[in-house]
Amino acid sequence: MRKKRKREHVENYLKTSFQGDTLFGDVFLEHNSLPELNFSEIDTKTTFLGKTIDYPILINAMTGGTEFSEGINRELSLLAKEFNIAMAVGSETIALCEEEGCRKSFEIVRETIGQNGLVFANLSAAASLEEVKAALNLIHGDAIQLHVNVAQELAMEEGDRDFSGIYENIRNILENIDKPVIVKEVGFGISKNVAQKLYEIGVRYVDISGHGGTNFIEIENLRNMNIDLSELYSWGIPTALSLIKCRELSSDLKIVSSGGIKSSKDIVKSLVLGADIVGISGELLSYLIHGGYDNAKNYLDGLAYKIKMIMMLMGKKNIEELKTADYKIIGDLKDLI
Ligand code: FNR
Repeated sequence: MRKKRKREHVENYLKTSFQGDTLFGDVFLEHNSLPELNFSEIDTKTTFLGKTIDYPILINAMTGGTEFSEGINRELSLLAKEFNIAMAVGSETIALCEEEGCRKSFEIVRETIGQNGLVFANLSAAASLEEVKAALNLIHGDAIQLHVNVAQELAMEEGDRDFSGIYENIRNILENIDKPVIVKEVGFGISKNVAQKLYEIGVRYVDISGHGGTNFIEIENLRNMNIDLSELYSWGIPTALSLIKCRELSSDLKIVSSGGIKSSKDIVKSLVLGADIVGISGELLSYLIHGGYDNAKNYLDGLAYKIKMIMMLMGKKNIEELKTADYKIIGDLKDLI
């Protein structure tokens, strides 16, 4: 059942057509005609969880557990290795409760990236402590992403319906494991209130994964639900809004900006708005599935060049300087703030 669902997630993601809006279009960055920099000096390296990556990019959680996803994870991890960027595996529940073979598709991620790379484990925030430990062990994870996916579960016929006790469960996991815990949405955004509640129990890493990209209400609705859920396809907090509101909290809350990240402008704007790293899932998957490894590599090459190009055009020579850049908010984003 789980294996079938994993494959359908990828296939149905490619069939989705609803166009959400991250609202990054409402963030305006100013051009600098006199940057006084040499392009070769532009430095995109950043350090996250004590490891340095060449670009502030995370290939975010997608898949694992089947032969089909093993191929995808192999190529994604080769890309992560080649660009020296971070990668998260998809939910590991399947590896913990199904047969031995399921594990391979996760293990190859660490094998490919090596011990020096930044790799995150992934499970539901409802997982038990033992499952979290096993998920971290399986890939020698540098951190565990715990996903909160109420909207997705409710859009699944076979999904969970009881979400009581999750907050307490996250607290228990935080108190009993010695690796960083990243609480992660799956495309509906984390509000300031929720981030505040998480912060109060000691969470210091959130992946906001906002609205505007992959849409799990639509993906699940294409799978199995008899009820037409299309009126809810626009549900969620746009990524730019979620990011700005969460950033109002303490500066020791580290933020992964994700949800609808497609372009170098989305990445740069995320960093300017206060993200520490930026996650991409669906867009990279599309390049990979439609054109293979070289196509996905070209996409990342393009992003890498254009991030540097924008940094130059803003007169910012490194990521730290970029985070201090001025910006203007217009339109709907301004109204919502
Ligand atoms: C996902 N995502 C996801 N997230 C998670 O925490 N565990 C998971 O197993 C999965 N599985 C998954 C499968 C597929 C096919 C996609 C496209 C996505 C969600 C993902 O990590 C991210 O939060 C959202 O997709 C929003 O980002 P994008 O896709 O708009 O860049």
